[in-house]
Amino acid sequence: MKVSIIGSGYVGSVTAACFAELGHQVICIEIDETKVEQVNAGIPPIYEEGLEELMQRHAGKLLSATSDYDYAVQNSDISFICVGTPSGDDGAIDLSIVRAATASLGRALSRKKNYHIVVVKSTVVPETTEKVVLPILEEYSGKRAGVDFGVGMNPEFLREGNAVYDFMHPDKIVVGAIDGRSGAIISELYRGIDCEITHTGPKTAEMIKYVNNSLLATKISFSNEIGNICKKLGIDTYEVMDAVGKDFRISPYFLNSGVGFGGSCFPKDVKALVGKAKDIGYDPILLESVINVNDRQPLKMVELLEQKIDRITGKKIAVLGLAFKNDTDDIRESRSIPVISELLRLGAEVFAYDPMAAGNMGKVFSNITYCDTAVEALADADACLVMTEWEEFRSIDFKFGVMKNKLVIDGRHLIKVKDIKEDIDYVGLCW
Ligand code: UDX
Repeated sequence: MKVSIIGSGYVGSVTAACFAELGHQVICIEIDETKVEQVNAGIPPIYEEGLEELMQRHAGKLLSATSDYDYAVQNSDISFICVGTPSGDDGAIDLSIVRAATASLGRALSRKKNYHIVVVKSTVVPETTEKVVLPILEEYSGKRAGVDFGVGMNPEFLREGNAVYDFMHPDKIVVGAIDGRSGAIISELYRGIDCEITHTGPKTAEMIKYVNNSLLATKISFSNEIGNICKKLGIDTYEVMDAVGKDFRISPYFLNSGVGFGGSCFPKDVKALVGKAKDIGYDPILLESVINVNDRQPLKMVELLEQKIDRITGKKIAVLGLAFKNDTDDIRESRSIPVISELLRLGAEVFAYDPMAAGNMGKVFSNITYCDTAVEALADADACLVMTEWEEFRSIDFKFGVMKNKLVIDGRHLIKVKDIKEDIDYVGLCW
């Protein structure tokens, strides 16, 4: 099939490359000319494991990019909207980029003779596809949805770092369409992937995405609350959750307590669902608590530190981990950000190390020292805070012996106590 993908960010790039891998002819539409050149040269505009290989393989053959909506719409049967949906100041979803891309698509559709389908892949709150996207398409194209063109919503469930794998090996594919014709054509694109397709309407598809992420975020905040209670009772919450996760109805995943969740999805999506619920007159107390627990969790690292050392002012604190999770340089909503802010507010000297994310964090904090190795950050430190679940922090090679005061506060339950050979004061955040 012939597909066009609007937006060559994280979701757009992965979707485009994977559809090409499935044998479809893919045209990326991107207003940023640098990204157009990158895609045409087979260079991924973002880093994602396995993406470069796919882009190299298909660029110039099944995969190309343009900034010309007309060209892309005329040369494809189906267009995916994969643009960003950031949070507004109040946490509610900001649809301005979706609106602008949809208007451009609508203008291009007005000049197309054949039937075309528009699919929203961007994460949008329920009702957006039918009440925002569809009317804009009709207005700018002068055509009728369901007659001249089809509309659908097809959410993504891609983890950063595993996005290509997740695309090719999904647990579920959700196709929410306004009619059977649109749904059948969208589903056809996924032929070749071994996964059952859930057919539904657009607003249910939109809701499935939010509920998926909100439930995972809820598991984490729930685990953190239990961890905080266990800590006060002197119980290892990891032993508790290991046993609880054996119940097949619960599953062992996303029960790891610690400094909480970050990233581009969980915080934004839970807040957007809270915003939507309030808009329609519902008070989402559980979802708000998920965010509240997550906001408080990183500051517990500093509270624990304050209990352990007299004064933070002037102390050298090593922060290990800046990325929001391991194997990425992404620092969006990283739990390290509120921790470093608080340490600086209290007058600490921060020495940070992260295998990938120091460059990005440098744009947020210019007044901390970025080290090339964990040992460099630890040298003469008064305490160490472990913030990200990097594999290299799991092994205890990086000699806590070089610290002045051997206090290690582990925010991710990484370091196995039995492995610690040195005489250190090792404290868990909630175990
Ligand atoms: C997530 C979803 O998993 C994915 O399906 C969705 O489409 C996009 O959002 P991602 O943001 O890449 O993916 O990260 P994920 O691996 O899910 O982790 C999110 C955050 O939760 C990280 O900060 C991680 O450290 C934290 N986390 C995860 C925990 O604190 N405890 C856990 O048990 C699991």
